[in-house]
Amino acid sequence: MAKKFVILNGSPRANGNTKALIQAFMKGAEAAGNETICFDLQKMNIHGCLGCTKGGKNPDSPCVQKDDMEKIYPAYQAADAVVLASPMYYWGISGQLKCAFDRLFAVAEIDPHYENPKKDCVLLMAAEGDTESNFAPVKAFYEGLVSHLGWNNSGIVYAGGNMETGDIYNHPEQLEQAEQLGLSI
Ligand SMILES: Cc1cc2nc3c(=O)[nH]c(=O)nc-3n(C[C@H](O)[C@H](O)[C@H](O)COP(=O)(O)O)c2cc1C
Repeated sequence: MAKKFVILNGSPRANGNTKALIQAFMKGAEAAGNETICFDLQKMNIHGCLGCTKGGKNPDSPCVQKDDMEKIYPAYQAADAVVLASPMYYWGISGQLKCAFDRLFAVAEIDPHYENPKKDCVLLMAAEGDTESNFAPVKAFYEGLVSHLGWNNSGIVYAGGNMETGDIYNHPEQLEQAEQLGLSI
């Protein structure tokens, strides 16, 4: 059955390595008959969570802050799978992605028990470092996040060895891995 993928692109580089991973993933996912929508967070007006815990009253517009998250909420609510796509920044995800992800709490607030909607999840990450220890902090964060949300980890692409925009094209196997992951879910 066709699935809906919502992709959150945390890279500030319009044509960066993360975007290349996303494009490969989308190619695979769409070839398998799925629907994809990608939000380039850097181009969007998204403020940090206020921690007010006053959200969830209107399921169509769950956050008290009215900014470009309004475009993401309906896609997220309808999605079967969430793709977290980010460059590694200081052994974590980028601020743009963390900022948007925190705001998804407003959707959990719709439920009286703060239950998050259940999703499949994918991580696509570009980084300069290419060792297991370089990716270890992100792996711990992502696996902890998915486990605590009760989500299903559908796969991870760690694309190390990429510093400058376009370096990833020297690693076609990484783009192939992203495409195959999209195809397989
Ligand atoms: C602010 C900043 C922090 C970074 N931190 C790390 C890091 O902790 N580990 C790493 O391997 N690469 C790090 N990098 C390198 C990026 O992850 C790498 O350039 C990546 O390919 C960028 O992806 P993009 O082209 O999609 O933006 C950092 C880059 C920047 C600009």
